[in-house]
Amino acid sequence: MKNIFDTHAHYNTEQFDTDRNEILASLPDAGIVGIINCGTDVLSSRESLKLAENYDFVFAACGIHPEDAQGVKDDDFPEIEGLLKHEKCVALGEIGLDYYYDFVPRDLQLETFERQLQIAVSCDIPVIIHDREAHGDTLRLLKKYKPKGVMHCFSGSVETAKEIVNLGMYIGLGGAVTFKNAVKPVEVASYVPMDRLLLETDCPYMAPVPKRGKRNNSAYIEFVAEKIGEIKKINPQSVADECCQNALILFEKLNKFYR
Ligand code: NI
Repeated sequence: MKNIFDTHAHYNTEQFDTDRNEILASLPDAGIVGIINCGTDVLSSRESLKLAENYDFVFAACGIHPEDAQGVKDDDFPEIEGLLKHEKCVALGEIGLDYYYDFVPRDLQLETFERQLQIAVSCDIPVIIHDREAHGDTLRLLKKYKPKGVMHCFSGSVETAKEIVNLGMYIGLGGAVTFKNAVKPVEVASYVPMDRLLLETDCPYMAPVPKRGKRNNSAYIEFVAEKIGEIKKINPQSVADECCQNALILFEKLNKFYR
């Protein structure tokens, strides 16, 4: 397969400490043409930019994840805003709400999310949204700020997916569509218009079947493209091709690197 664009990865994490460079260097031969490495706090956002500086096909998203909102300081917001100006930072993310783990008080998550949505809109940069068991509050804030962006690792219903698409946003799908017990992700994959779909790994997490439980990497996206092709009755390569085009449309700063 070719033209695989992984719109959500975490190659900075310790799971890649022993062989990060080997894995990344092997990906172009596996058909990977681009990766967006997502920060979850100021430090990992900086690490994402470092990877982007070291590899032509790696780009960064910078932002504060809801599970990292606990230690957030006022200075972190202008700092993230500064990182967005880097030519290889193509999005603000990942940001959002996580009511599944609920490690961080909801009011702090909401404040951290809302402040970053304000930055995204004022800087006119797309957002990468993490929403786990928080669809109501997430949608309310997306409707309020109307950012460009993607709902990553989408876990909601078709009804919620329709609202996201109606807001002009994209839906990111990964390993979850391949899981044996997958019902909602399969319904969502079937519904999402091809021009609103993005492929992603969320690696090292969420490896697709038949690699489920193993450490994920961008080369495994082919299993996701195959499954979506099966669901939508289209050729898996067309899934990869169209999703790659969609990434270039949403993440506008990519364009100068792909001409
Ligand atoms: Ni992630």
